[in-house]
Amino acid sequence: MFWAMPVRDVLVVIGNELLEATMPFRSRGFEYLAHRPLIESYFRADPGMRWEAAPKPRMTETSYRPGFWGEYEALPYEEQIARVRAGELVLTEAEPLFDAADIARCGKDLFVQRSLATNTAGIRWLRQHLPEHRVHGVTFESAHPMHIDATWVPLRPGLVLHCAEPPTERELLQYLKANDWQVVQAATPGRQAPPPLSVCSRWLSMNVLVLAPGTVCVEASETAQMEQLDHLGFEVVPVPFWDVAPFGSGLHCATLDVHREGTLEDYFPKRSGRF
Ligand code: ARG
Repeated sequence: MFWAMPVRDVLVVIGNELLEATMPFRSRGFEYLAHRPLIESYFRADPGMRWEAAPKPRMTETSYRPGFWGEYEALPYEEQIARVRAGELVLTEAEPLFDAADIARCGKDLFVQRSLATNTAGIRWLRQHLPEHRVHGVTFESAHPMHIDATWVPLRPGLVLHCAEPPTERELLQYLKANDWQVVQAATPGRQAPPPLSVCSRWLSMNVLVLAPGTVCVEASETAQMEQLDHLGFEVVPVPFWDVAPFGSGLHCATLDVHREGTLEDYFPKRSGRF
């Protein structure tokens, strides 16, 4: 159960709905069960709650490209990125697959990263499941894309924090610009190396948790990230969390916003490109 801590990978809250993701890793297939006692308590307490689960995947051999890793790791970076853009990574399109942590929510717009954990069928399933929302498949030019929340983090209406390493598609940036959103390059992480053991990058520094409008929790050792958010007008709450990183998570991945207020907003009234 190494992975079971980052609840954000398994569950996503959209409006009054709590949705269990399919997850594509065989080793994580039963992880939703760890959260069920809590989910059941929310269900008992709140008659307005929608509790949904995406179709449990079969995860047979047909869901994974045979021999992917050996072949992929031998490719030069440019060819890997071409595969990322084409969505030709380890997952096939045999069944819908997604991790909840590949979803970034901005009101009506959901940006879903195609990654090692999310295929196009998974994004399509989300689109059909959430007809009130605009579900956009997006890619970032990482050779190992997985989980959007150490790459692209909405901070408040009109502002996204982006580590720009990997860069994203020009069309997505244009969509944000057309709607007067600002994309801020995240501060350089304090650490040079990723956390030991985990599959995370050092960009966990920007895996911040917006607790309330204007209040953001940041890992306590990431002083540059804290200062940047302070200058952007946030109240910054330092939380010592680096010792958790080896288990695959920063503050955003390890938390879930189950108690929420507000209504569904449209922050992107203007269409642009494919968006
Ligand atoms: N690929 C991300 C990184 O570069 C993983 C962040 C972990 N996120 C998560 N939801 N578990 O660090």
